[in-house]
Amino acid sequence: MTNRIQTVVITGASSGIGRVSALHLAERGYTVIGTSRELGRLEGLFDDAEGRGLRVFGVELDVNSARSVDSVMPELISQFGEIHALVNNAGFGVWGPVESLTMTELKSQFEANFFGAVRMIWATLPEMVSRRSGRIVNISSVLGRIGTPFNGAYVSSKYALEGLSESLRAELRPFGVQVSLVEPGWFETDFQKNQIRAARADDPALAYARHIRSYSESHERFEWFAGDPVRVARVIEHALSARRPSFRYPVGADARAGILGARLLPERLFHALLDRVTTGG
Ligand SMILES: NC(=O)c1ccc[n+]([C@@H]2O[C@H](COP(=O)([O-])OP(=O)(O)OC[C@H]3O[C@@H](n4cnc5c(N)ncnc54)[C@H](OP(=O)(O)O)[C@@H]3O)[C@@H](O)[C@H]2O)c1
Repeated sequence: MTNRIQTVVITGASSGIGRVSALHLAERGYTVIGTSRELGRLEGLFDDAEGRGLRVFGVELDVNSARSVDSVMPELISQFGEIHALVNNAGFGVWGPVESLTMTELKSQFEANFFGAVRMIWATLPEMVSRRSGRIVNISSVLGRIGTPFNGAYVSSKYALEGLSESLRAELRPFGVQVSLVEPGWFETDFQKNQIRAARADDPALAYARHIRSYSESHERFEWFAGDPVRVARVIEHALSARRPSFRYPVGADARAGILGARLLPERLFHALLDRVTTGG
């Protein structure tokens, strides 16, 4: 670990990748501040930390709300002195055919996964730029590189996060602030449970029922594949501690294979394979 990165804010630390990463980083000696929309949901993290003889700080913060971010972040900065790194992890998925989505559903997806990250970046960046050091790790997804059916809302929010990160990387390089994207494949967390199914996803008036059934069957076949989120935590730690971190970190064999396939295969062939795996072709 470098001496420079000490205090890390992780959004969405109540569960899954955020929770496991908070513990992993605390174990490695970082001062970790985890956020949740509801402080009570961080109890499990605090208990796990205590059980391992660690201390993790927690704060109630809603990335969907500018008022919440703008009131909590300055307090944290004055309490901890400096925030050396930000891990934009909070996020969820809206599931359903694009045709079935409402604008409200689509906006709620972007509010958390994209604008939430933007709010956090705005709140931490001025101090990082003036200090000429800092790290921002944005948790994207393999679905920030590949569009799968019925995930259009989620996929587009992660593509947006990827695009923003590309520009940020170039803008911040002269100021010693390094930006990375972590792109997990499928990991065992509460993500599936917390996914919101679009209200009209299964509307019989729409034409997708058969394809949705094939998708669900294929999804179930791959369930065993979900990895241990500690693997993502280790990659996040690497992005925070490496002297020269990479810009993109695909995590998991599924993510690496998918991204490599999209890059190397002729597009028509890649799409045929993707269609076969997702909806049976
Ligand atoms: N698991 C995977 O296979 C996978 C794969 C690729 C990418 N990812 C990404 O990894 C990140 C973490 O997901 P996870 O798998 O760990 O899922 P998770 O177990 O459901 O945890 C999600 C975390 O994000 C917060 N969150 C959920 N919905 C939110 C919303 N609408 N607004 C604000 N915060 C919200 C939750 O915090 P509170 O509810 O306590 O506020 C929770 O701590 C997400 O960005 C996800 O897109 C996950």
